[in-house]
Amino acid sequence: MGKKAELHYDGEVFDIPVVTGAENENALDISKLREESGLITLDRGFKNTGSTASAITFLNGEQGILRYRGYSIEELASKATFLEVAYLLIFGELPNKEELEKFHNDIIEQSFVNDDVKKIVDAFPGAAHPMGVLSSLTSALTAFNPDDVSLDYTRSKEEMYNPIVKVMGKIPVLIAWAFRKKNGFPLEYSSKTKNLSYVENILQMMFKRPNKDYIQNPVLVNVLNKLLILHADHEQNCSTSTVRIVGSAHAGLFASISAGISALWGPLHGGANQAVLEMFNAIKEDGGDTQKYINKAKDKEDPFRLMGFGHRVYKNYDPRAKIIKEAAHSILETLGIDDPVLDIAKELEKQALKDSYFVERKLYPNVDFYSGVIYRAMGIPSDMYTVMFAL
Ligand code: CMC
Repeated sequence: MGKKAELHYDGEVFDIPVVTGAENENALDISKLREESGLITLDRGFKNTGSTASAITFLNGEQGILRYRGYSIEELASKATFLEVAYLLIFGELPNKEELEKFHNDIIEQSFVNDDVKKIVDAFPGAAHPMGVLSSLTSALTAFNPDDVSLDYTRSKEEMYNPIVKVMGKIPVLIAWAFRKKNGFPLEYSSKTKNLSYVENILQMMFKRPNKDYIQNPVLVNVLNKLLILHADHEQNCSTSTVRIVGSAHAGLFASISAGISALWGPLHGGANQAVLEMFNAIKEDGGDTQKYINKAKDKEDPFRLMGFGHRVYKNYDPRAKIIKEAAHSILETLGIDDPVLDIAKELEKQALKDSYFVERKLYPNVDFYSGVIYRAMGIPSDMYTVMFAL
C-alpha cells in the first residue's frame, strides 16, 4: 500500500494517493477526486499542478538544481555535445558512438525542406519578426509532410523515431532561413555534410555568405552547443505544456510544435531574452543609471519589470544563468569584444541581489539574463534570440 493523504470534507474522508518521484518528491494524485468526492481543484496559472509524471527533467527551484535524466546540468554543459544531450533527453541514456552516429545520420537524411517553403519565406515582409516567421513555417511543414504523424503517445518508440529526427533535421533549416531572410542573405541550403557536427551545420547554414567558404570558429561552436544544452528541456513550462495540450488532441507534429513556438514568443517566457537586451540598450542610451531602473522595477505604479529576473519555479539562482554568465564573460574575452551591455548587466545584478525587494521575493537572474550578451557577440540580432531558444 503506497502513501496516502486524507481529505476531510463535509463529514466525509477521502483518500488521496501520494505519488513519489525519482528524487523522493511527493505529489497528491487527484485524478479520481471529482469522481469520488464531487470536488475539483482550482490552481490559477498551474503554479502547483503537474500534468503528467515524467522521468526526463528534475528541477528543484528552491535549491536551484536542474538535472536531465539524473545528470546535472553543470556536468552536461561542460562535457557533452547538444546532440548527445538531445539523445539523452529523448531516449533516456547517453548514446554510444554508433548510436550517436546513426542518430546524426538519420537527422541529416531528414533535413530536406521543400523548395516551395522558400517562396513562403520570400513572401514575408523584411521587417517580419522571425518568431512569427518560424511558427508559420513550422506550421506550413504540415502541408509539405502530409504523412506527418499525430502526437499520439500510444505510438511505439520505433514509430516516434522518424518524427523525432524529422523535427531535429528540419527546424534548424527553417531557423537558418528566418535568419538569412532577416539579413538579406540568399536562402542557401544545409551542406548536408556528415563531416560537420549538428551545431557546426547550424552555424554554417546561418552564417555562410554566397560564394565563400564558412570557416568554423570553435568558440562559437562551443558556446552555441552550451546554450542549446541549457535550453533543451525545462519540465512543463509554458511552451512545452502548449505542445503537449495541442498534441493531446492528436493534432499533427508540426502543428503542435508551431503552437509551442508561439507560446515561447511571449516576453514573460522565451521572449525575455530579446526584452533583456533591449532593456540593457535602453539603460545604456539613458546614461547607464542602473539604480533608476531598479527603482522603476520596484515601483508598483510602473509596469516596468526587470527582464531576465525572477522565475516561476526557481526561487534561487537559476543554475543555467550561472553557466551562461561565465560563458558570456569567456566569449567576450576570447573574441576580444568590450561590450558595455555586459557591465550594465553585472551592475543590475549586483544592485538587485542586495536590494530587499528582490531578496524578499527571491528574484534572481534567470536563463535569459545573460544569453543575449552571447548572441550579440555571435552577430545574431536581438529579434532572433527567442528563435535560438526555440532551436
Ligand atoms: N521585476 C520586478 N518585480 C518582479 C519581477 C521582475 N522581473 N518578477 C517578479 N516580480 C515581483 C512581482 O511583481 C510580484 O511582486 P508582489 O508580490 O509585490 O506582487 C512578485 O515578484 C512575484 O511575482 P510573480 O509574477 O507572481 O511571479 P511568477 O512566479 O508568477 O512570475 C516571471 C515569474 C518569470 C513571469 C516573472 O518573474 C517575470 O515577469 N520576470 C521577467 C520576465 C522574464 O525574465 N521571463 C523569463 C523567465 S525564464 C525563461 C523561461 O523559462 O522562459
